Amino acid sequence: MSEVTIPPIFACPECDSAQLTWREDLSPAVAPFDVSEGLRCENCEREFPRVGGVWVLWSDAVKRLQLLQAEAGEGSAEPEAADLSEQVKLANIKIYDTISESYGEHHDGIRPYTQTLLFLKALGDDFQAPPPEGHTRTIIDVGCAAGVGLDFGVNGYTHVVGVDLSLTNLRAVVAKGRLAVLADAERLPFRENAIDMVTCFATLHHLPKPEVFVQSASHILREGGVLLVAGEPTRAAMDHRGLGRFVFDARKPIYRLLARRSEKYFLHANREQQRLNDLAEHGRTHGGMEPETLEGFFADAGLEDLQLFYDTDVSHFRPYGVPDWKMGLLKTLSFQNPFKRSNWANLSAMGRKRVRQSKPTESEDAS
Ligand SMILES: C[S@@+](CC[C@H](N)C(=O)[O-])C[C@H]1O[C@@H](n2cnc3c(N)ncnc32)[C@H](O)[C@@H]1O
Ligand SMILES: [Zn+2]
Repeated sequence: MSEVTIPPIFACPECDSAQLTWREDLSPAVAPFDVSEGLRCENCEREFPRVGGVWVLWSDAVKRLQLLQAEAGEGSAEPEAADLSEQVKLANIKIYDTISESYGEHHDGIRPYTQTLLFLKALGDDFQAPPPEGHTRTIIDVGCAAGVGLDFGVNGYTHVVGVDLSLTNLRAVVAKGRLAVLADAERLPFRENAIDMVTCFATLHHLPKPEVFVQSASHILREGGVLLVAGEPTRAAMDHRGLGRFVFDARKPIYRLLARRSEKYFLHANREQQRLNDLAEHGRTHGGMEPETLEGFFADAGLEDLQLFYDTDVSHFRPYGVPDWKMGLLKTLSFQNPFKRSNWANLSAMGRKRVRQSKPTESEDAS
């Protein structure tokens, strides 16, 4: 087999060691992880297969879930998740392994969305402190799905990486010629202080412990590197009351009917799909994110100069706007101002990893 280059940004998701070596004698696992090639951590001896070009740098928890799911695919009993955190991750694996193609199709071509991502990434680029001289730049998109955010806004980055839990999603990322890593957002398998920007679009509410992801992102960012989170439903947006609540709760059977006529409603094909999606969108289902909570996550993780804003309105000059008709209706029926953007617009946040002051030298001390 030809020589394989291991990207120099990888680290073991469990022990953080960068001593990963290429092996062709990995222990056999269930399909599709039944390959003998991949990486081995020389420190803790964990193994990480490479499947169809995807680097599977799974944490112990995600490995267990992936193998359970793969065995279920081979006809064994339905996998059982141990706790809520595992249930949410398993729901994400199941749902995105099934809908990956539809998600990609219905998303890749949406111009306003691509433009939004492009704009946000440009903001994140400008917000970074300059890297040290000779530094090789890396951008990582966490919860990348089929790679919608990897196609643009990546000039100047040597490593462009998509991270997701779904192998089906990541095969599409490989097809795009990008680096695809199957990993848990809460245990990012990259070297400490190595990464310039971590983006997370429409994914934070899929994580059972978003604060753990923010910590993990901060750990791998270099000093002055940026974490950019966007597309996060807020508590205000999810706060439907009175008739608004009634209509919101009544939407599911209507969506199931619509799903029979239009592929656009692929997430609502049947009750089980809807149940799984509610589980997968954990934070949204449980009422959305308070801006102050997200602010606290960033601060606790050592991410400074926080910019918190709605959608792309980084300078807060658009307090009012017109929501789409569904949100407008829900807010009106809930007796909440439908034109106040903070009542419905998604939350975005950007923070920069603290630059540690270098210790003064003896001569500076003396002066
Ligand atoms: C709503 S999609 C967002 C996709 C894309 N970023 C976008 O803006 O359209 C959420 C993605 O997060 C992934 N995901 C969910 N939980 C994850 C986790 N714990 N670690 C990594 N990816 C996860 C899902 O597989 C899915 O692809
Ligand atoms: Zn290790």
